[in-house]
Amino acid sequence: MVWRERDMTEQALVTEAPAPAKAVTMPDAQTVTAVAHYTDRLFSFRCTRPASMRFRSGEFVMIGLMGDPDPATGKQKPLLRAYSIASPSWDEELEFYSIKVQDGPLTSKLQHIKVGDEIILRPKPVGTLVHDALLPGKRIWFFATGTGFAPFASLLREPQTYEDYDEVIITHTCREVGELTYGRDLIESLKTDELLNEVIGEGFWKKIKYYPTTTREESAKMGRITDLMRSGEAFADLGVPQINPETDRAMVCGNLAFNLEIKEMLEGYGLEEGANSKPAQYVVEKAFLD
Ligand SMILES: Cc1cc2nc3c(=O)[nH]c(=O)nc-3n(C[C@H](O)[C@H](O)[C@H](O)COP(=O)(O)OP(=O)(O)OC[C@H]3O[C@@H](n4cnc5c(N)ncnc54)[C@H](O)[C@@H]3O)c2cc1C
Ligand SMILES: NC(=O)c1ccc[n+]([C@@H]2O[C@H](COP(=O)([O-])OP(=O)(O)OC[C@H]3O[C@@H](n4cnc5c(N)ncnc54)[C@H](OP(=O)(O)O)[C@@H]3O)[C@@H](O)[C@H]2O)c1
Repeated sequence: MVWRERDMTEQALVTEAPAPAKAVTMPDAQTVTAVAHYTDRLFSFRCTRPASMRFRSGEFVMIGLMGDPDPATGKQKPLLRAYSIASPSWDEELEFYSIKVQDGPLTSKLQHIKVGDEIILRPKPVGTLVHDALLPGKRIWFFATGTGFAPFASLLREPQTYEDYDEVIITHTCREVGELTYGRDLIESLKTDELLNEVIGEGFWKKIKYYPTTTREESAKMGRITDLMRSGEAFADLGVPQINPETDRAMVCGNLAFNLEIKEMLEGYGLEEGANSKPAQYVVEKAFLD
């Protein structure tokens, strides 16, 4: 099936224009087609996708920019970092959701990209947050903190998510309310997404239960998801029983401490960790390296 490209949510969109024809000047260059900023620490962008690039929704790739010239030789090397692909596997373009680290080697520069600029993309996707790594179940949980939402932005737009599960629960814990915007807008946009409603089935989005929480700014639901699960509050709010290995599957993407804590909790509920080579009941991936 051929899918056509759709716009990002109007509210978030800052700049968008057709990718201009431009000579390729970098290795593995792709052209930026849209950029949206959410907070002083978060932005997203879209870029062209290599025609031959295939990936599974939930995987990550290496992307980047050319680094500064070496003072001695004047040579420039690519400066690459791992990034979850936030767009689904069927999308004609690629989307990324990014942090802005003010002194970060890559994102101090990447945050300034504009439509028409080029980025480097190594088209070799890998990762554990894929449906292939899970056994069938009734309910899938996506647990994210911060930019860990990115792989789920892909999986929430992946038809297989709704073919495989009756219920899709996405939890997103951030420090501040503004850090929820990208995820909230994306989930809201699914309701009016004509293409997905036609292909997956009218009202497919009703399978989604969205559970955003903040920890350092007042919002409708405060607290870390881990604490809210331990107390039983999250299950009561969502109207679902406690996680169990018969019915529930989980994918986790957040900071290292979060991943370790959730992993321990999931194992406490009786779930076993899966992998591409050995599907089981939950999978984990780091949203960043510390
Ligand atoms: C498997 C994997 C997937 C990733 N996917 C994404 C993604 O989709 N979006 C994304 O923004 N980053 C993602 N990252 C992190 C990314 O690789 C870079 O670390 C990030 O772009 C910052 O790069 P930098 O060179 O500016 O700073 P770095 O030197 O890489 O990082 C500097 C410091 O910034 C903090 N930091 C880095 N990344 C983040 C983050 N995402 N959220 C909060 N704090 C952070 C850490 O404390 C880190 O020590 C991923 C990392 C891994 C391992
Ligand atoms: N977000 C900001 O406004 C901000 C601003 C400047 C600098 N930074 C720096 O950027 C880095 C990343 O910050 P971030 O906010 O993107 O990511 P983060 O520190 O990973 O926090 C994201 C969310 O995850 C929660 N969390 C952390 N550990 C957890 C655990 N073990 N179990 C459950 N939930 C957990 C946090 O709650 P808690 O709030 O309870 O930790 C927060 O709500 C940090 O080094 C930070 O100092 C962040």
